Amino acid sequence: MEKDHRLTPFYTKLLEYAESNTVSHDVPGHKLGQIDNDMMDYTGVHMFKLDANAPRGLDNLNRPTGVIKEACELMADAFFAERAYLLTGGTTMGILSMIMSVCRAKEKIILPRNVHKSAINALILSGAVPIFVKPHLDFELGIANHMEFEEVKQAILDNPDAKAVMIINPTYFGVASDIKRITELAHEHDMIVLADEAHGSHFQFSDQLPISAMAAGADMSSCSLHKTVGSLTQSSILVTQGPRVDHIRLRSTINMIQSTSPSSLLLASLDVARKTIYLEGPTKIPQLIEMAHQTRLKINQITGIHAIDKNYFKNIHAHDYDETKIIVKVSDLGVTGFDVYKELFDVHHIQLELAETHIILAVLSIGTQQKDLDALVRSLQMVSDKFAPMHLKTVLPKIKYSYPEAYTRPREAYHAPKKYVPIAQAVDEIAAESIMIYPPGIPLVIPGEIISEDIINDLDFYQRSGSVILSDTEGGYVKIIDKEYWIKWSELYENE
Ligand SMILES: Cc1ncc(COP(=O)(O)O)c(C=O)c1O
Repeated sequence: MEKDHRLTPFYTKLLEYAESNTVSHDVPGHKLGQIDNDMMDYTGVHMFKLDANAPRGLDNLNRPTGVIKEACELMADAFFAERAYLLTGGTTMGILSMIMSVCRAKEKIILPRNVHKSAINALILSGAVPIFVKPHLDFELGIANHMEFEEVKQAILDNPDAKAVMIINPTYFGVASDIKRITELAHEHDMIVLADEAHGSHFQFSDQLPISAMAAGADMSSCSLHKTVGSLTQSSILVTQGPRVDHIRLRSTINMIQSTSPSSLLLASLDVARKTIYLEGPTKIPQLIEMAHQTRLKINQITGIHAIDKNYFKNIHAHDYDETKIIVKVSDLGVTGFDVYKELFDVHHIQLELAETHIILAVLSIGTQQKDLDALVRSLQMVSDKFAPMHLKTVLPKIKYSYPEAYTRPREAYHAPKKYVPIAQAVDEIAAESIMIYPPGIPLVIPGEIISEDIINDLDFYQRSGSVILSDTEGGYVKIIDKEYWIKWSELYENE
């Protein structure tokens, strides 16, 4: 039977409760807005009245049977899926749940090297063995991007025992790998397909966008509705289809990492965002794409600044591109994306999504208005007027990428005995932490990989070029496995 997407079962029941003047002798302690605070002065009491915990009638996220179940059914229908799980811990939680529910310790998963850190954490928690596919490296834009089909195919053929393939649909920059072909091939080899759709929640609602993971036949996908669809930050979903999904295991994994007090505000925001995108997305997304297209044309009139379009990605044989993202190359002005990101915020009150050495990225949604895009064009013109006459020549770091050799699984390295050494002395040691560089955002090394001379040189290079280095250890030190004690330790924990 066709679903009625005008309905918002969870939000409607929550509103009913908020308006019912029920006396609260339960948590939360703000008693539905009876403690005044600074935030309430700004938001008013209504936000607090909607922040209920678990009153009768509002169902239970751990095992939904009432209004949450109904909201999930509508969500699944909207996303072309068989089942949907509402998440209050972002797609971070979705990725942890997918990988942990599919991979047992020592089972292989094929995934791109430029995965979000939640995927690396899921490898640590599950004990799975990563088979990394090198992403496409774009030297023109200085970014790591999609996976090429042939690279994934090779990984599948080389690892017929792999349990799963994970695909980012799309990358942060909006580029989609050929998810349909990869999914078909993975299924032929009896592998389950997981999608990270943190940046692709809107795909299902317009045929002018890349194909969604569910439409492409993937088994599971996690979508950050908060990023591109309009629900509140941290609200995401996990959608599934087909016989490969073990729902008992998936449910128990989700419940393991889900708070027992999930935010009703986040859940309600998913319910209402689903209604809006389902009813309005098919008309508004094409309008948004046209607005973005016109904006790119205007940006391309500006000296030294270049908006990247779909043709650019077609020319480098990327499968597809999400045109609701605006990538602007600014490095021809002799400044970095970071400089422009800062300038746009400090001087023009524009907050961008992201900067890299060569580019800046604006993420649009059906909430984006023409005046917002006009402000971007105007401000970029002013940035060009300021920097172009200076004829600056900033030396930009070249994107570099050397594949470190894996010595042991991330989980084993995470739990192994450790010691801390100065980075320069860590050559040939086994990393016990991830070291990530922004840009390009790929972990140079993850727990269990051997730190090569190349990695130390890359780190030095990025440090000197002013990139941000993310790791657990500070002050020029790195956490490595203490091999001497590890041998003994391994005898005890080998099968974890
Ligand atoms: C590619 C990718 N995957 C997953 C995530 C995690 O999503 P969330 O912020 O919803 O937890 C992000 C967050 O930025 C991301 O960029």
